[in-house]
Amino acid sequence: MNVSLCFENDKSVLDVGCGLGSTVDTYGVPDHVAIYGIDVNAEVIEQAKLLYKDRPNRFFLVCPAEDLRHFESNKFDKVISGITLMYIKIPKVVREVYRVLVPGGTFSASYETWKDVTKFMLRALTKLQIKVVIHRLYILMNGILFYLTGYIVPYLNGTIESFQSRRGLRITLGRAGFENIRFDGNRVFADKKSSSKFD
Ligand SMILES: C[S@@+](CC[C@H](N)C(=O)[O-])C[C@H]1O[C@@H](n2cnc3c(N)ncnc32)[C@H](O)[C@@H]1O
Repeated sequence: MNVSLCFENDKSVLDVGCGLGSTVDTYGVPDHVAIYGIDVNAEVIEQAKLLYKDRPNRFFLVCPAEDLRHFESNKFDKVISGITLMYIKIPKVVREVYRVLVPGGTFSASYETWKDVTKFMLRALTKLQIKVVIHRLYILMNGILFYLTGYIVPYLNGTIESFQSRRGLRITLGRAGFENIRFDGNRVFADKKSSSKFD
């Protein structure tokens, strides 16, 4: 399926796990849209602020994806996310994303597949990097759990990592209330119901 997003009539977009802010360009968000980038890493947020200091409609904030309390409900026309789903508590995040989207708004994110994880695991195996192999095994098991249930669990040190499958994404996004869940390459797209209200 070939899916793309149109941002022409949008007022504001949220970029989850924005890093230095390049996901916005990958999605082709035009300049007139107010873009809010959030990330847990204070250092990258400072760098992004510097990088975009001449762009008054780009806002950057240290904020965990799991807790979007800085933002009112029904605020964003779109929420996008690049190379971040694998590091976050997806079920919690998509519930928050659903809340902050306007009714009928769209969420889109890129995701990591089992192939990406096994590739790194095999490389670590050949180098006998046992700790890396164990961590990759955790990511694989977490991805399988996500495939079966739409839920994930943290690693021994409390961090999160998983791979995502279309089935798992359908389950967890559907559970949060999203509809019209669709895929294009390694990107997922899902819409908030038009009649949804979070007041
Ligand atoms: C691989 S980088 C992607 C950055 C950017 N989206 C891009 O495509 O270049 C993943 C980003 O997610 C951020 N991140 C990880 N866990 C997060 C969380 N729970 N909440 C918000 N951001 C998070 C990291 O700090 C990092 O900047």
